[in-house]
Amino acid sequence: MNHLPSEPSALPGGPFVAYNGGQLVVEQVELRALAAQHGTPLFVYSQAAVLSALAAYQRGLAGRKALICYAMKANSSLAILKLLAEAGCGFDIVSSGELERALAVGAEPAKIIFSGVGKTRHEMRHALHAGVGCFNVESLAELEVLDAVARECGAVAPVSIRVNPNVDAKTHPYISTGLKGNKFGIAHEDALTAYQRAAALPGLRVVGIDCHIGSQITEEAPYLEAMDRVLDLVSTIEAAGIAIHHIDFGGGLGINYNGDTPPQADALWTLLLARLDARGFGNRTIMIEPGRSLVGNAGVCITEVQYLKPGEQKNFCIVDAAMNDLPRPALYEAFHQIVPLQPRDAPPITYDVVGPVCESGDWLGRDRDLAVQPGDLLAVLSAGAYSMSMSSNYNTRPRAAEVMVDGGNARVIRKRESVEELWRLESI
Ligand code: LLP
Repeated sequence: MNHLPSEPSALPGGPFVAYNGGQLVVEQVELRALAAQHGTPLFVYSQAAVLSALAAYQRGLAGRKALICYAMKANSSLAILKLLAEAGCGFDIVSSGELERALAVGAEPAKIIFSGVGKTRHEMRHALHAGVGCFNVESLAELEVLDAVARECGAVAPVSIRVNPNVDAKTHPYISTGLKGNKFGIAHEDALTAYQRAAALPGLRVVGIDCHIGSQITEEAPYLEAMDRVLDLVSTIEAAGIAIHHIDFGGGLGINYNGDTPPQADALWTLLLARLDARGFGNRTIMIEPGRSLVGNAGVCITEVQYLKPGEQKNFCIVDAAMNDLPRPALYEAFHQIVPLQPRDAPPITYDVVGPVCESGDWLGRDRDLAVQPGDLLAVLSAGAYSMSMSSNYNTRPRAAEVMVDGGNARVIRKRESVEELWRLESI
């Protein structure tokens, strides 16, 4: 019987992540060569996959006044930011640190939007001095503080108010943000009052409206529903004499982790623009804040099998990547496919794939059928988003290195951390 994987192009990340001659490759580069050269755990990204994901949005929005602001929290590696800035993207940031990253790659400040519920005064000043294009404000209290900070700086802050459309994104509760009962945005029914207040404050200039209903959304319906709710509000706010120049629909489009079939970005936007046109808002400036869908399927994390540990109830495959490198399974019980770099023609055994961290929550995949031996290399797929950017040094584990592949070339975009770097700021 042949136990080799059947349909390689079916891998999430395909065709940029695929088997070629029995070896897993990213574009034209064999991952086993990268692991031999740079060690494991190792993140590897496909530049073409990122650009192809972006191109789908660009096709969908072609001919419109539109700005794609990459939500860099998904993956804030400078090389990825530079790639997206050069391809025309702006950025959605949520901290001073992310602002510095955007500026470090030469992003145009006017194309940066500043989101988040807890911007500090310091961060507001920093963003005002940089000249960001918009503050996406999330509460009445924040409006007042931003007004005061802007006036102190002798500036006028461009603002959008994040409205909460109370739409169910039908995703994991931790990453669903558009429902009543979470900390994000201003309730639909309070939005007009908030806009009237913003319009009355001398340190603020209303420029837009925004929403973001959640992440890893795999259906069209929640987007259409949110769009309708936001457009209703735009009509109400403009009827009160406050002009809304841009409409920001947030991010949230899902990717394929395990046979998920989210709409393609171009198809989704064709549909959403038809609704926008039908409602007479087709000539507005559109902004979006995609994160995961631009980078998620472009990345893999390579890890080496350390030990196989058979058990009465479970078999464990212990690898050298852990929850500090790939926190999504531990945090959200998220599923990532885990595949061998070089499949063995042997009967698979069912394992829990776990890391070396001293926590039962340190698992990367449960009940996975794998034919593996110690020393084999595995790839955790769909690891381009919310993996490296959420990694930590728990258990004093230096963070992994990152490599960017472009065709047949691979270059290190972040060196592996050393232990000395981890304690550099400490004193005894
Ligand atoms: N805009 C805002 C205001 C956001 O809060 C987010 C994500 C995005 C845009 C980008 O969403 P995306 O297109 O990536 O879905 N760590 C979680 C996801 C957290 C998402 C937080 N906000 C995960 O690993 O699933």
